[in-house]
Amino acid sequence: MNKILSAKWIGRDIREIWVENAPVADKFKAGQFVVVRTGEKAERIPLTIVEASDGALRLIVQKVGYSTDILCSLKTGDFIRDVAGPLGQPSVIENYGRVACLAGGIGAAPLKPVLKALKEAGNHLTVLQGVRCKDHLIMEDELEVLSDSYILVSDDGTCGDKALITEPFKKLIENGEIFDKAFAVGPPPMMQAVSWITKEYDIPLTVSLNPIMVDGTGMCGACRVEVGDETKFACIDGPEFDGNLVDFPLLIGRLKTYLDEEKQIMKEGDGGCSCGN
Ligand SMILES: Cc1cc2nc3c(=O)[nH]c(=O)nc-3n(C[C@H](O)[C@H](O)[C@H](O)COP(=O)(O)OP(=O)(O)OC[C@H]3O[C@@H](n4cnc5c(N)ncnc54)[C@H](O)[C@@H]3O)c2cc1C
Ligand code: FES
Repeated sequence: MNKILSAKWIGRDIREIWVENAPVADKFKAGQFVVVRTGEKAERIPLTIVEASDGALRLIVQKVGYSTDILCSLKTGDFIRDVAGPLGQPSVIENYGRVACLAGGIGAAPLKPVLKALKEAGNHLTVLQGVRCKDHLIMEDELEVLSDSYILVSDDGTCGDKALITEPFKKLIENGEIFDKAFAVGPPPMMQAVSWITKEYDIPLTVSLNPIMVDGTGMCGACRVEVGDETKFACIDGPEFDGNLVDFPLLIGRLKTYLDEEKQIMKEGDGGCSCGN
């Protein structure tokens, strides 16, 4: 169990891993995730299940720190010590009508299964994908094929128009496009910026949150987020929440909690990418 059937780079510091785990693959629903550990004392890494097929899970991992670095160093034929899941609540999929789906950076991976489920439920999908630069662009063909309309933008203009993802989204609305619902997955500041627009235009928004998680079982409280006037645990109540009610400044602040320790533990990097990030 947990044998890596294939592992390859699909973008700058972004690795696609197919790992064998039939029990999780059989139960998985769009929006759920696994928690993986590469060794007995290793940190737990929450990762969205992008797809499941023939008893295997497709994971897309961005190397951002110590644990994801170790995971990304694994090769085809290696084993991942623990793959626990499926965890979290599945996405709430309905026939909403016209849906805007926004993917920022690695958010393309968690968004893909949601798009597939929304499409199967008969929704009209406008997909907006934003990346820092072309080196970070992943899965664009997979997102485009599921969409009725697809827009690509990048911060530096190396792929698609040079813009932040919120710019074409706002322009579409100002030009009369009606959205009955929006989904956004990406870095918290991007989801926060999307929520400013959805609040302004009264569009229901679902976001997939990525707070720091420790046990992933609702016991430690590390993943708590404020949604409206309620405290929720992303690992058991989420990871998807009403984006118009999430307290993003608090979430962003908490994600920075261990930054100094993470920097200390992180090995020497191999330089930035062509966009300078
Ligand atoms: C439900 C859920 C699903 C996720 N799905 C995916 C996925 O499909 N693919 C993927 O690549 N990542 C995903 N993540 C994020 C991933 O779990 C973290 O990037 C990883 O745990 C960081 O571990 P690290 O030790 O390598 O980095 P660290 O050394 O812990 O951190 C390095 C840098 O990453 C930032 N960071 C740490 N944890 C997170 C986090 N949870 N989210 C965003 N930034 C973080 C830190 O602030 C720091 O700047 C998901 C997170 C959650 C909660
Ligand atoms: S990760 Fe511990 S309560 Fe959610």
